[in-house]
Amino acid sequence: MSQKIFFTNNVGKILEQLHDKLAPSKTMILTDNNVDEQYVTPILSPVLVGGPLEDIDIMSIKPGEEHKNIDEVKNVWKFFEEYGMTRSSLLINIGGGVITDMGGFAASCFKRGIRFINVPTTILGAVDAAVGGKTGVDFNGFKNEIGVFNEAEAVIISSWVFESLPHQERLSGFAEMMKHAMLSSAEDFDEILKINVIDNDFYEGVWLPLLEKSVGVKRRIVKADPTEKGLRKALNLGHTAGHAFESFALKGGNPIPHGYAVAWGLVVAAVLSNVHRGLPSSILYRLASFVKEKYGVFHITCDDYPELLEFMHHDKKNLTADAVRFTLLSDLGSPEIDCSLSDEEISVGLDVFRDLFGI
Ligand SMILES: NC(=O)c1ccc[n+]([C@@H]2O[C@H](COP(=O)([O-])OP(=O)(O)OC[C@H]3O[C@@H](n4cnc5c(N)ncnc54)[C@H](O)[C@@H]3O)[C@@H](O)[C@H]2O)c1
Ligand SMILES: [Zn+2]
Repeated sequence: MSQKIFFTNNVGKILEQLHDKLAPSKTMILTDNNVDEQYVTPILSPVLVGGPLEDIDIMSIKPGEEHKNIDEVKNVWKFFEEYGMTRSSLLINIGGGVITDMGGFAASCFKRGIRFINVPTTILGAVDAAVGGKTGVDFNGFKNEIGVFNEAEAVIISSWVFESLPHQERLSGFAEMMKHAMLSSAEDFDEILKINVIDNDFYEGVWLPLLEKSVGVKRRIVKADPTEKGLRKALNLGHTAGHAFESFALKGGNPIPHGYAVAWGLVVAAVLSNVHRGLPSSILYRLASFVKEKYGVFHITCDDYPELLEFMHHDKKNLTADAVRFTLLSDLGSPEIDCSLSDEEISVGLDVFRDLFGI
């Protein structure tokens, strides 16, 4: 992964410098209405006025995952045409994962690919979606079904932009930071468990190094395995059970944010790691009590196990039909991918998970 990543609250300045260097024929910003209202129009645009981006055009779409689809991409392409974007134009995606995924995909296909810059405005976007080169949209009821691997020219990560994030979005993104810390080291895990992401002013002295560390974990893994043939699966930690929880909740008509599902899924992964790979119990207990305090309890009973197991077997990252494969940890910083577990072993893990949450 060679993409340049900036960690700064001076987003406007970096955008100007990049604009000078890339010298695009035209430049356009793609954002969503929330981000436009909270950040682009009041904070970023005034900084850019008078600079080289003065005649930039902004396309703002409705927020939400339901707009991450091919119809919306067609609207973006129409906008590109109308605005006279050429092969040497530049798209700046400013928003959460929906905007960087979709904008990255739209840019990657337009005239066989134009350059794009990601400016993530959610924690999840900053440490996950905006970096690593996966772009795409949902299609035919499947998440991220259509897409390409293509890296942004640059990613500009800032911390103050998170101040306007609703609590739920803060916690959701923070779960991916917990995941990265667990994949990294005991020190990173200790550090992350001290953070209160709800009551936080995102002071740059604390947050920019924290974000850099978290992104660094993803970067190192993606660099070793950009197209997910092996090691990149380590990033799936917490996601096998997490995706099952997410799908289960969605089907039951009570959707939960992705990061909440990941937080609970990390606890399941830690339980299974403890039983099958010797992850120390103290780590499991600390994680479980942190997750319970911040994210609350995900209510499941043993009657729900068959359905949850069904979802795990059908996870697109789980290519063998017979056994479910997990990423587990033998210790903090020591992931093991493709750990096959039987339905019975997973069920025992879910029993322990329920015990830990008192359900
Ligand atoms: N490409 C990847 O590797 C990758 C990795 C993880 C997730 N994703 C994708 O990312 C998406 C989820 O990302 P997300 O959680 O950022 O969702 P999102 O883009 O929908 O943002 C969440 C909500 O926060 C609002 N928002 C964004 N920034 C804000 C700000 N600064 N202040 C106030 N409100 C703000 C948005 O308008 C939206 O309502 C999913 O589509 C997922 O598939 C991609
Ligand atoms: Zn995730």
